[in-house]
Amino acid sequence: MWPEFATRYNRWRYNLYAPVYDRVVASFFAARRRRSIELLAPGPDERILLLGAGTGLDLDYLQGCRGLTAIDVSDGMLARLRRRAARLGLTLDVREMDGQRLDFPDAHFDAVILHLILPVIPDPVACLREVERVLKPGGRAVVFDKFLADGRRPGLWRASANLLTRLIATDIDRQLGVIVNQTTLHIEHDESAGMGGFFRIVLLRK
Ligand SMILES: C[S@@+](CC[C@H](N)C(=O)[O-])C[C@H]1O[C@@H](n2cnc3c(N)ncnc32)[C@H](O)[C@@H]1O
Repeated sequence: MWPEFATRYNRWRYNLYAPVYDRVVASFFAARRRRSIELLAPGPDERILLLGAGTGLDLDYLQGCRGLTAIDVSDGMLARLRRRAARLGLTLDVREMDGQRLDFPDAHFDAVILHLILPVIPDPVACLREVERVLKPGGRAVVFDKFLADGRRPGLWRASANLLTRLIATDIDRQLGVIVNQTTLHIEHDESAGMGGFFRIVLLRK
């Protein structure tokens, strides 16, 4: 019940944010997006899924990729992604879909891009298990996001702040190791992407 309600809430609020999203987020994260996609090293004919693709800010770094699929729950965000793709001359499969229940066959994708989604999606374990399912054996996923360090307990300040940040933007107390450990994916590379390691870029392998 909770994930269904939270997913509907996400759709509503991202439809609301869509007109201003790029102005708020685009320049702030550009260098980290580039780095994350460099690490993923997508091949031109690989099947690549952008999960929670938003307005498509990653597309700037995926030119030349011919096997792109983008999914998101917000049609407002996806409308902007379609316009960006057209501007860039990119052809891709764009679908409104819940990242916790992917409508793709097993072992379908070579790679998945998870940028700013695991702390936003209501059930990140369900999401990553779906990523695991749709990846081919040996496939990879790249995560760029903010996480509480594994093994640390959220203090009172963070726990209180999380009540607010979760409502307007994102959880700030999720731990990537806890999520990944509930799948068979393994962490192949993990680097700090700012704010004393709060932001991380992580490459996962199936
Ligand atoms: C912070 S934005 C990140 C967008 C994009 N990945 C980026 O890097 O700019 C989070 C996105 O996740 C989407 N989202 C939230 N819950 C989702 C779900 N259950 N399934 C798919 N997308 C979801 C939102 O609509 C929003 O576009």
